[in-house]
Amino acid sequence: MSRDGHYGGTVNDSTVAVIVVAAGSGTRLGHPEPKALVPLGGDTILGVALDAVLGMREAPYVVVVAPAERVDEVRERCAPRAAAASVDLVVVAGGLTRQESVARGLAELPREIEVVLVHDAARPLAPSAVFDEVAAAVEARGHGIVPGLPVVDTVKRVDGEGHVLETVDRSELAVVQTPQGFPREVLESAYVAAGADFTDDAALAAAAGVPVDVVPGDARAFKVTVPSDLRRAAQELAERAASAAEPSAPRALPAHAPVPRVGTGIDVHAFDAADGTPLWLAGLEWPGERGLSGHSDGDAVAHAICDALLAAAGLGDIGGMFGTVDPRFSGAHGEVFLAETVRRLAAAGWRVGNVSVQVVGNRPKLAPRRAEAEALLTGLVGAPVSVAATTTDGLGFTGRGEGVTAIATALIVPASGRA
Ligand code: CTP
Ligand code: MG
Repeated sequence: MSRDGHYGGTVNDSTVAVIVVAAGSGTRLGHPEPKALVPLGGDTILGVALDAVLGMREAPYVVVVAPAERVDEVRERCAPRAAAASVDLVVVAGGLTRQESVARGLAELPREIEVVLVHDAARPLAPSAVFDEVAAAVEARGHGIVPGLPVVDTVKRVDGEGHVLETVDRSELAVVQTPQGFPREVLESAYVAAGADFTDDAALAAAAGVPVDVVPGDARAFKVTVPSDLRRAAQELAERAASAAEPSAPRALPAHAPVPRVGTGIDVHAFDAADGTPLWLAGLEWPGERGLSGHSDGDAVAHAICDALLAAAGLGDIGGMFGTVDPRFSGAHGEVFLAETVRRLAAAGWRVGNVSVQVVGNRPKLAPRRAEAEALLTGLVGAPVSVAATTTDGLGFTGRGEGVTAIATALIVPASGRA
């Protein structure tokens, strides 16, 4: 742990830290609470801002700089959220100016931090992606990075008496936001060197000769300064919550996505009136059980699976494929049909996803050998086969013990390379 802020490694080996400055009083907002603790969308301004930080692609180390008299309370609120996101978080008391608050946050960074993002809690809706982009740009360029938006209004330079002196070329202007990111050592040196009070870190860094680049900002990263900003934030947050709650529109499969197909197969065999016919079901022999009659071995489970697979592939059915009079299949076991079916599917460009089959009948009791049956059939089909069984509560021919029904569903997918 790096609760001490200086020694051991961070929980998740982060080399990126985010300092969230939240120690201002919010004079212009005019709320009794310090601005960061003002309610917003069932949370606080700081809570919403923290969520964006915790939503970063790679977990950062987080320092929250809180109003001095509210440090414990802020720690209690923030620590569980950070812990739930496996993020290291420390809370420290801020100073009299924003710059001083940032400096106090910087003093908390563990040794291994290489990139520092400074963010105003007062910009609670700044999206996580902006944090990711700023951090990535600092890493890639080694410069200071600030998110900025173009100026849309015409801008005038005006003197103290309200006379317009000139129209400023707005194409050269940007409105900058936070998070602002810097290589850690560069920002620390700039803070040590700072001889004046600056309104943002980019100005402080630039004064120390640090190159600073602008990357695209986001309108949602606006700063809550006056009451109308708070209303806007609450409304945007409500819209965000509503759109997250909306079920997403059903999406069609992409035009070239491989489309899986399903098939159903049913087979019924009567118990053989003659004693001594062996029972074959689900690929297994069942000693001591009355056998099923049929041209082949009467394995309704294997046959239902074949029919489901053939139907899914549009290759007809087992009767058409093997013929009920073909002497080669007289007495043949289920595995013969299954192997040939799977081979034909593969030749047609299909691969089996899975098969589910249910046996309907009083006997045999399937449960004791279910795992054995599933393993055998899975091996034959080359994909998971699950076997279930049910009785019909004494109803119908299965209830009277006259025979067995098996119902199978198969999912198949185009084998890679299928046109
Ligand atoms: N900030 C800070 N410590 C200070 C002053 C400001 O951590 N001594 C933080 C604020 O909490 C805010 C950010 O810096 O997240 C930007 O400051 P600003 O919007 O000016 O907030 P306040 O100073 O709180 O508001 P005001 O200027 O209206 O009093
Ligand atoms: Mg202020």
